[in-house]
Amino acid sequence: MKLLILNGVNLNMTGRREPGVYGTQTLEDINAEIAAFCKARGAQCEFYQSNLEGEICTKIQSTDADGIVLNAGAFTHYSYAIRDAIASVRTPVVEVHMSNVHAREEFRKTSVLSPVCRGTVFGFGKNSYILAAESFLL
Ligand code: DQA
Repeated sequence: MKLLILNGVNLNMTGRREPGVYGTQTLEDINAEIAAFCKARGAQCEFYQSNLEGEICTKIQSTDADGIVLNAGAFTHYSYAIRDAIASVRTPVVEVHMSNVHAREEFRKTSVLSPVCRGTVFGFGKNSYILAAESFLL
């Protein structure tokens, strides 16, 4: 089992931006924990982050992973391009958010990605990624 852990816009700033919302660990720290979690369960992980919508689409189209854990960041709320990329492949995608998007601003309550994802995990900080990865390993 190989998983792609895919992060979108501004997630490279994790640990430095809004630490009260997203924590103080960097994306690299979090990815190391996800890698250890997957390795202990015999799964392989690949990590990719981009601030560019089209690069996220290309990665979704070209991955050889068995599943994708996707935190698209703000793209979640308006990117029909990423939505269509997800719909165009057979690879299952689990949508992730570290924060509880339903307890924040109104615009965060809309995800244009959710209807084409297998499921969504939100509100558990870095553990949202771990829980999403686990969903592929059950
Ligand atoms: C986020 C929530 C989004 O609304 C926001 O734009 C992000 C991060 C999260 O992980 O909680 O960049 O996806």
